[in-house]
Amino acid sequence: IPVDTFDIIIFGGTGDLSRRKLLPALYHRFVDGQIPEDSRLVGVSRSEMSDKEFRAFAKDACQESTGKDFDSEQWKAFEKLLKYVAMDATDPDADWDTLKAALGQDGRPSIFYLAVTPKIYVAICESIGKAGLAGGDARVVLEKPIGTDLESAKAINAGVGAVFSEDRIYRIDHYLGKETVQNLLVLRFGNTLFEPLWNRTAIDHIQITVSESVGVGDRAGYYDTAGAIRDMVQNHLLQLLCLIAMEPPNSIEADEIRTEKIKVLNALRPMDAKCVGRDTVRAQYGPGTIDGKQVKGYLEELESGESQTETFVAVKAWVDNWRWARVPFYLRTGKRMRSRHSEIVVQFREAPHAMFGEEQAHSNRLIIRLQPDEGVQLYVQIKEPGPGGLRVQSLPLNLSFAESFQVRYPDAYERLLMDVVRGNLALFMRREEVEEAWEWVDGLLDAWADAKVPMYTYSAGLEDGPVEARMLLREDDRDWWSNGK
Ligand code: BG6
Repeated sequence: IPVDTFDIIIFGGTGDLSRRKLLPALYHRFVDGQIPEDSRLVGVSRSEMSDKEFRAFAKDACQESTGKDFDSEQWKAFEKLLKYVAMDATDPDADWDTLKAALGQDGRPSIFYLAVTPKIYVAICESIGKAGLAGGDARVVLEKPIGTDLESAKAINAGVGAVFSEDRIYRIDHYLGKETVQNLLVLRFGNTLFEPLWNRTAIDHIQITVSESVGVGDRAGYYDTAGAIRDMVQNHLLQLLCLIAMEPPNSIEADEIRTEKIKVLNALRPMDAKCVGRDTVRAQYGPGTIDGKQVKGYLEELESGESQTETFVAVKAWVDNWRWARVPFYLRTGKRMRSRHSEIVVQFREAPHAMFGEEQAHSNRLIIRLQPDEGVQLYVQIKEPGPGGLRVQSLPLNLSFAESFQVRYPDAYERLLMDVVRGNLALFMRREEVEEAWEWVDGLLDAWADAKVPMYTYSAGLEDGPVEARMLLREDDRDWWSNGK
């Protein structure tokens, strides 16, 4: 569905996120006919650059992301939308007039996308406000992480909230833009099959795995101040947990969904020094081999050569409410694992009586595969064919999105950017969500410090990360399901 004309201003326009995600996402939406030709896309950064140079930068970015499908004719039309303004946006006395002139002030929605470090979110918003650009239909988009702890998140939320009202603030978590993640809602609430079983009576436990093969690369400076818990768990993994655990919202209106997610975060059992050593594992990758190539260990990627930052974390979490009593949620995420794959596994309880033998154990499993090979699999028990006795095994009813829908899979940012343009806040986080998630993470980090939880190591390229993470489940007589196995 095409949208009305809008302007988007990307602060950090020449940065990594803009190059890898935002510019290609806008280009794809343009090619698909969703961005009107009189919209304006303005890159803002401190470095001096002409419009022509910015267009060349954007072209490289879009070509890199599109590969052989890059369309030169469409590009010629798209690049006309691009402009560039060099300025320090944290400075209210900078040359805001040039930006205003680039925008034209014709009453259309302005979207201010802050693809910069969160430390300057408030300063930029204040400058936007002082320049008189925050009124009318202006919206602001904030990238994660919103802060580094509860206190800094509150300060950002308050500072940004002093300029933009809550319904104008779009806090992005790009996992919510992934197709399969949105499908989680449809799967749960669009079908009658699952919801009656979606509770402690039928479900044994839940696993959420986000495994990456990349290391920290040139983001080591940022990453070392964050670690897996702040970079991934506070946002992406907890958001996935919320969508699995939440009660059915009354509708798909933004606040209905967000209110239900907040209740889940509220019900998360806080970690304390007593349980944190037993219920969490943290680790750093050492040197190893991925896809046949030698890769460095985390410490070798740092200038200082030393760090207490985790690149892997596994957590046994509990949602203390009626629906989820005594159902553990096992979360894990790590860098430099053997492969990139993310999935949610809903493990149903064992049949009460194993009349077909031991193979029957844990036969029903719903796997929601986020990436790659997006899809849903429901494992059921079936009889092996043949006359030689009754042997059973668990096999999947398989819904592969690639086979069912032969369409290009849009990147999460494409969906989310267009939601901002349409004014749909359903897939963005409300202020309290961010703060509740930080409160839980802060508690966990404090507990790690108080309990002096050890930092384990794992060789880069291991499927499951450190052996201690395996033990976390073994102690409960369970195993991680890895990569569909
Ligand atoms: C980002 C993290 O939010 O998500 C990165 O900062 C991580 O460290 C990335 O690599 C993972 O996203 P995706 O979409 O590749 O799974």
